[in-house]
Amino acid sequence: MVKICCIGAGYVGGPTMAVIALKCPHIEVVVVDISVPRIAAWNSDQLPIYEPGLEDVVKQCRGKNLFFSTDVEKHIADADIIFVSVNTPTKTRGLGAGKAADLTYWESAARMIADVSKSNKIVVEKSTVPVKTAEAIEKILTHNSKGIEYQILSNPEFLAEGTAIDDLFKPDRVLIGGRETPEGQKAIQALKAVYANWVPEDRIICTNLWSAELSKLAANAFLAQRISSVNAMSALCEATGADVAEVSHAVGKDSRIGSKFLNSSVGFGGSCFQKDILNLVYICECNGLPEVATYWKQVIKINDYQKNRFVNRVVSSMFNTVSGKKIAVLGFAFKKDTGDTRETPAIDVCKGLLGDKARVSIYDPQVTEDQIQRDLSMNKFDWDHPIHLQPMSPTTVKQVSVVWDAYEATKDAHGICILTEWDEFKNLDYQRIYDNMQKPAFVFDGRNIVNPEKLREIGFIVYSIGKPLDAWLRDMPAVA
Ligand code: UDX
Ligand code: ADP
Repeated sequence: MVKICCIGAGYVGGPTMAVIALKCPHIEVVVVDISVPRIAAWNSDQLPIYEPGLEDVVKQCRGKNLFFSTDVEKHIADADIIFVSVNTPTKTRGLGAGKAADLTYWESAARMIADVSKSNKIVVEKSTVPVKTAEAIEKILTHNSKGIEYQILSNPEFLAEGTAIDDLFKPDRVLIGGRETPEGQKAIQALKAVYANWVPEDRIICTNLWSAELSKLAANAFLAQRISSVNAMSALCEATGADVAEVSHAVGKDSRIGSKFLNSSVGFGGSCFQKDILNLVYICECNGLPEVATYWKQVIKINDYQKNRFVNRVVSSMFNTVSGKKIAVLGFAFKKDTGDTRETPAIDVCKGLLGDKARVSIYDPQVTEDQIQRDLSMNKFDWDHPIHLQPMSPTTVKQVSVVWDAYEATKDAHGICILTEWDEFKNLDYQRIYDNMQKPAFVFDGRNIVNPEKLREIGFIVYSIGKPLDAWLRDMPAVA
């Protein structure tokens, strides 16, 4: 029986391994993690991450051919194929701070593999790591090999949170990169055989190591670029009276462009886009390509601009001050159907509002109060000028309350900011909300999910990104 071990039971490792176990009943899959509470949660009824369909898959295989364990060493030693999906955050200090990936966790995982392995292994890079990192991992392993042979593969993950299980069941493609030697090719075939249990062969693309790694960064950079492009257009639409939804619909109908990832928003978030683009920027700089680096940096700059622009819209519409005013924030996760808040635009928007002394009341169906407090009290890391800003003072964080209902959040509020496109926000009783708010009552829709006309009929002053402006907002300055 083939044995797979995955190091790291996070957003990538957990769902990916659960689907492999489901689709390959003849393979034993063990997911290991150093975090005891995380593994305990995977073994309980309350899984540590929220992902539609995940619970069902885990319940079908857990205890049969899918196991979660903290006994990292034992399961690494037993496995034929080891996936590494540990976290790779952006470095906050030292060389490459603000851009390069921090490979501390990866390196410790690699050293652990070298320490405990007694048989040949295929090591699969599953987390996003910058181009040419597999080479470093290969060096750690071969220099500590004790006669054991390691084959390194890159098998980047393209799943998106919120649709991870669907993405894994029906991937557009599976990418496997490996060495061009006969042993490398054999390892590629071994991993291909795993995916071939459910993925059509023509969707499994085999490349060299570096192409696979770079493709992951490139795909995310291209996707993020589409959002920054349409967000840049949204500012122009507001200035000129065009409607960004109409523009993106018209543009997306061009089959060469396509309609996906053209929704204007308060900005993109998530654990991948910013991090991957920063990696790309760093790699370009290291390779003496400053123009290319600047080109990609601009995608992130527009994203920061979009978040600032949103905060400025809120403050300027409310008589240029939100000091002491209650602002309801609906949605904190970086997108719907996930509880993940990494790089969520809500962090920057809330910090902007708190900076202007607003009282912020937050409701998100999947994000806990603890998480929100952690996110808002954390030092903000400025990627462009890698220095740590001052942490929020405890009094500022006290200006934040987290509630479990949209009606509670909006009660007595002066304004509402919709920051995540949760379906439930589309069908709230906005008349009831309006009746319980201070007047004039404002809605700032950062995801374009409400019907501005209907809300205006109720009496709201409405700002929707990239749409013709409410008369109220027309004379207000949009940018700082
Ligand atoms: C992304 C990639 O899609 C995935 O392939 C990769 O493996 C990991 O990174 P993820 O971060 O989970 O996935 O979410 P995604 O659906 O790509 O959304 C990223 C951000 O862009 C979210 O904040 C989302 O709200 C925003 N977005 C997306 C827009 O603002 N407009 C759009 O049209 C699409
Ligand atoms: P991702 O979104 O890439 O899956 P997460 O942060 O959700 O990232 O998950 C990464 C997981 O990897 C965490 O649960 C962390 O505890 C685990 N991890 C990090 N380093 C190691 C290690 N050396 N051994 C085992 N697990 C590790």
